[in-house]
Parts: sequence; structure tokens; C-alpha cells
Amino acid sequence: MTMATPKTTPTVTNVLHTAYQKSVASYWNSEKDPVNLLLGDIDGLYHHHYGIGDYDPSVLEGPETVGSGGSRDDRIITEMHRLETAQAKVLLDHLGDVSPGDRLLDAGCGRGGTSMMAHQRFGAQVDGVSISEQQVEFANNQARQRGMADKVRFHFRNMLDTGFETGSLRGIWNNESTMYVDLFELFAEHARQLEFGGRYVCITGCYNDVTGGRSKAVSRIDEHYICNIHPRSDYFKALAANNFVPINVIDLTAHTIPYWELRAKSSVATGIEDPFLTAYREGSFHYLLIAADRV
Ligand SMILES: C[S@@+](CC[C@H](N)C(=O)[O-])C[C@H]1O[C@@H](n2cnc3c(N)ncnc32)[C@H](O)[C@@H]1O
Repeated sequence: MTMATPKTTPTVTNVLHTAYQKSVASYWNSEKDPVNLLLGDIDGLYHHHYGIGDYDPSVLEGPETVGSGGSRDDRIITEMHRLETAQAKVLLDHLGDVSPGDRLLDAGCGRGGTSMMAHQRFGAQVDGVSISEQQVEFANNQARQRGMADKVRFHFRNMLDTGFETGSLRGIWNNESTMYVDLFELFAEHARQLEFGGRYVCITGCYNDVTGGRSKAVSRIDEHYICNIHPRSDYFKALAANNFVPINVIDLTAHTIPYWELRAKSSVATGIEDPFLTAYREGSFHYLLIAADRV
């Protein structure tokens, strides 16, 4: 199946519908943060998400300066990248049965790391959408360099209104991109595009309904990334309202804390490490994987 032809040529005016979306696009268009670029340079998989799993404590040992294993900071950065790639692997583990003839959508794809991993694993066609034209251009260049541009394509489109065909997709994921949109609108668009029985997976930070509204630490994360972190409950309300039935819900909070502890010790720390660690440790924030089927 070929890719959907958009009804109109995507332009800033018809892709970015609100002043808020314009500010998010502008943030990602100008983003050249070493915490993303240096890690991606290691193997060409560029992630804009966090890591999971225990880090190898030996990366913190040994000489600070360059030795046979690189500098301490090089070792930390390589380890952080390993944990970020491990996060994407766990997301893909929950996509269910995907065949080479299937189509997948990476909604809010960043520079495309998870899309490329998905194609390598399943052989399927992957389309990624982002409201950042810079990211889309960067990711398409990466796909070309990796020889997968015929199967992995990135588009300047809004995930709330992609223009892809109804019922054309086997799987959709959001890897840390749901906090930029209204979940009811997002899941309505996902439900339209997925075939019956298609799988949806997201990994996201969400705030804890049990401890109340947004904590100070969660508000600082929102402000830092210009996003609107949702309460945990909203995910399940919005999924149920759009004919999605959850099959797996995994609390990854304890598994992401080591990544943040390591990142706080690295040269690529951005200053947002403390709010993340505080929010996770005080229980006001979770790192959640949700997998659901479209019925
Ligand atoms: C934190 S990054 C995650 C990137 C990627 N999923 C990853 O794991 O590397 C958030 C992404 O969501 C995208 N985004 C935000 N709002 C969007 C929208 N309405 N439509 C499409 N993409 C959007 C941003 O452009 C950015 O690429």
C-alpha cells in the first residue's frame, strides 16, 4: 500500500492550527541540545525520550580524562543512549504481531529513532509525523543514509489530523509526545486510522490523580518543555471514549529513575533532572507504558 497523498500540500498554515502548536514547533525547530545530538551521533539513532533500566556503575569509575575507553563523560553518554534505545525496544515489544506488509505510524516522531528501530525489527512501512519541519528533514536524511527511505518516511503533519487513510494502519505509537495534545482528539484520530484489532502503544509521563493536581515539580517540567502533562486518569477515559481496550499498563517509574540519576552526573544535564527525580520520588508523577487494542 502506498502512502496517503495529503488533500493539500502541508504548510505551516494548515499543519499548525493554534498559537500553542506554533510555539511547540518553534521549540523543536530550534532544538540542538547535546543531550539529544551527542547521544544520537553514537549510532545514528536519534531519540528525544528518556531511558529505562539500570546503568552500569563502572561507567562512573576510572579516569575522568580520555583513556582507552574514552573519557568518563563519553562513557556516561554512551550508557544513556543504551538506556534510551532500551526504552524504545520495550515500546516496540508491545506492538503485537506486525508483518512486513503492515503500516505503522510514529505520532510525534522527533528525529525518527523509534521509527527506524521499528522498521529494522518488523520490516514494515513506517510513517512518522512531527510538527517540526527541521526534525522531519533531519529524520528523512537519516532514513536515506540508512538505505530505508523507501519504507521509512517522515512528514510535516499534525498528529491530530494526519491525512492518512481511514483504517490503513496496523499500529500507532506515541513515544513521549502525548503531552502536547488533547488526548480525546488524539485518540479519535488514532481510532480513525487503525484497522479493527490494531494496536496502540504509548510511553508517557503522567501526573498522579491520587496525590492530587500538578505538583510543583510536574509544573516545572511542563514549563521547561512547553507541554501539558495529563493526569493518569485522562488516558483511560480518552481511550475508552474512542473504542480502545487496554491490554497492558506498565509502571516504568522505578525503571527510569536510574537514567535520571546518571544523566544528572553527565555534561549534557539540562537542569530539568532535579524536577524529574523529585516528581518520581515523591510519587506525583509516573512513567507509564499503555498498550491498547482498537475495537
Ligand atoms: C519529546 S519529543 C518525542 C520524539 C520522539 N517520539 C522520540 O521518542 O524520540 C515530542 C515530539 O512531539 C512532536 N509533536 C508535538 N505536538 C505535535 C503534533 N500536534 N503533531 C505532530 N507532532 C507533534 C514534536 O514535534 C516532537 O517531535
